[in-house]
Amino acid sequence: MCGIVGYAGRGPAAAELFEGLKKLEYRGYDSAGISTCDRGEIFTAKRGGRVEELSPALKNLPGTVGIGHTRWATHGVANDINAHPHCYGKFAVVHNGIIENYAELRAELIAEGHKFASQTDSEVIVHLLDFYYDGDFSDALRLTCARLKGCWAIAALCAGFDGFAVTRHSSPVILGEGVGRFAASDIYALCGRAHSYCVLEDGDMAIVTPAGTEIFDRNMKAVRRAFEPLKEEYGDGGTDGCPHYMLKEIRQNARTMRATCDKFFSAVNAGELRLRLASADKIVLVGCGTAYNAALAAVRLLGGAYDCPVSAHIASEARYSPPRVTKKSVCIAVSQSGETADTLMAARIARDAGAYLLAVTNVGYSAITRIADKVVPVCAGAEVCVAATKSYIGQLACFHLLASLNAPDMRRESILKVADDVEKIANGGTYAEVIARLCVQSRAVFFLGRGADVDVAVEGSLKLKEVSYIFSDGYPAGELKHGTLALVDESVTSVVLICDEALAEKCVNAVEQILSRRGKVAVVTTLERTYDELKNRVDAAWLLPSVPAHLAHFVSATALQLIAYRAAVLAGRDPDKPRNLAKSVTVE
Ligand code: F6R
Repeated sequence: MCGIVGYAGRGPAAAELFEGLKKLEYRGYDSAGISTCDRGEIFTAKRGGRVEELSPALKNLPGTVGIGHTRWATHGVANDINAHPHCYGKFAVVHNGIIENYAELRAELIAEGHKFASQTDSEVIVHLLDFYYDGDFSDALRLTCARLKGCWAIAALCAGFDGFAVTRHSSPVILGEGVGRFAASDIYALCGRAHSYCVLEDGDMAIVTPAGTEIFDRNMKAVRRAFEPLKEEYGDGGTDGCPHYMLKEIRQNARTMRATCDKFFSAVNAGELRLRLASADKIVLVGCGTAYNAALAAVRLLGGAYDCPVSAHIASEARYSPPRVTKKSVCIAVSQSGETADTLMAARIARDAGAYLLAVTNVGYSAITRIADKVVPVCAGAEVCVAATKSYIGQLACFHLLASLNAPDMRRESILKVADDVEKIANGGTYAEVIARLCVQSRAVFFLGRGADVDVAVEGSLKLKEVSYIFSDGYPAGELKHGTLALVDESVTSVVLICDEALAEKCVNAVEQILSRRGKVAVVTTLERTYDELKNRVDAAWLLPSVPAHLAHFVSATALQLIAYRAAVLAGRDPDKPRNLAKSVTVE
C-alpha cells in the first residue's frame, strides 16, 4: 500500500527509480512521483495517475541519487499536489503508511510559519525535517520520527547530500545492492538490479550513498544487518504471455499446490507441530479479505483433524475484540503479503497473550515471519495482481497439510492429484466465459453453497466484485429464503456451487426457488448426477472434475477465479489493478 523506492549509484537515478516504481505499482496506482538530487539541487516530477505518466518528465530529473513513490491515497484525493515526493526547504520525502497525529503536527508547524501545499498526512514529515535540521540530515530524520505516531516507511533527500536516508516503523523497507544501491517497499522492485538484499528492522535508519550504506538502530547505534543473495525466483517473471497477471497467476494455482506440498515438510518439524496443534486448547485464525476466507476453510479442515475448538476471525475486528487465548492456544495468522497491518496487530495481541504464533504466508521476509514462532510457507511466488488467487489456493494447501499431521486420511498425495485437475480447469475457460457473460449482464450476482462450498462462494463473490465492480454477495444457500430471495428476479444471477453429494439435494432446492422467481442460475458442480439433473434447466452449468468434497475447494475456487477474471475483461476493467484497491494493506 504505497510503494517507495530509493537509488544511489552512478547511473541516471530517474530511470532506475521509474523501473522500480513500475514493479511496485500494485501497491498503489493513483499517483506517482520522483525526486532526484544533482549538484545541491532537488528536482521533482509528480503526477496523479499511473506511474507511466511520469515517463515524459524523466528527462527533467538529472542526478544519480533519488527517491520515488507510487501512491494509494489515504488523506487527500489523488492529484498532482497530493502525490509524493513532498518538498520543502532543502528536503524531499516519500512516505508509505499513516501519520496519525498529522493534524496536531501540522497545526504546530503552521504556527511556526510553515506553509503546506497538500492535504496529505505525509507532508508534515518534510516540514518536520526542515524544522529540526541544523546541518545533520540523519539527526533531523531521527528527531522527526520521534514526533510521529502511526506507521511509516520514509525515504528522504537533502539538497547537497549525495545519497538518501530511509527509515521504517511498521512498514517494510528492503535495501538492495547491485550496480548501485537501492531501497524499496518490497523485494520485487529490486529483482534484476540488485544481487543481494537486506530487510531493515523496525526503527532502523539507513544512510545510502553511491559509495556505501550505513545502518543505525533506533538508538542511532551503527549496526550490521545481513545481506542475503537475491534469487531470481523472487521476481514476478512478467505476465508470461497472458494478457494479465491475474490469468497467469490463476494458471499457477496447480504449481503453487505442488510447491507448497514440496516445501512443507522441510520447512516445519512435522512431529513438533502436530504435538503443538494436538495439545492446543484452541486454534484461532486471523486474516483479512481473501486470507480470512481461506481461514474459513481452515476452520473446517483443522476442526475435523484436531480435538479443540477452531475459529476464524477478521483481523480488523479481532484487534478490538480479540479471541481469548492462553499459553496452550495456537494463533494462525494468514496473510499473503505478511504485511497487512490489521493481521499483524491481531497476531501480536494473541502472541502477547501467550498463544503460539504460526504464520501462513507467501513472503518469507515479511513482518509476520519476524514475530511468528513458526512459518508455514505458501509457495505461490510473486503475486502481482491485486486480487489474491494462487495465494488463496496455496493457503488452502497449507491447511490441508496442517490437518494431515493429525488425520491420516488427509494425504499430501491427494492434494497433488487434485493439482492436475486444477491445472486443466485453469487452462480452459469456455464455461467461465459463459458464466462471466451472465454476470456482466446482471444487476447483482449471488454466490451460494452449503458446507465447505459456502467458504468458496464467499471468496468467489469477493473476487468478482473487486475485479469487475459488479455488486455481489456470497452466503449459505439455506439463507436464501431468509432474506436474499427478495432481491431475486430476471436481472440477478445466482452462481450455485454444489460439490458435496451429501448436500446436493438441498442445493437443488435453492436452485428451484431461484428459478421460480425467474432468477438466472449458473451451477458449478463436481457432481455428474447434479449436472445432468440441472444442465437443461438453468442458464449455465459447469461440470468440474469429480473430486472428494473436502478437496473440492481447489477446483471450485479456481473456476470462480476464472469467472471473475473473464467478467472483469468483459466489463472492460483492469483486473490487475482494480480501482481504489492496492495490494499489501499496510495501513489500518
Ligand atoms: C482480495 C485481496 C485482499 C487480501 C487482503 C489480505 O483479492 O487480495 O482481500 O486478501 O487484503 O491481504 P494479505 O493476504 O496480504 O494479508
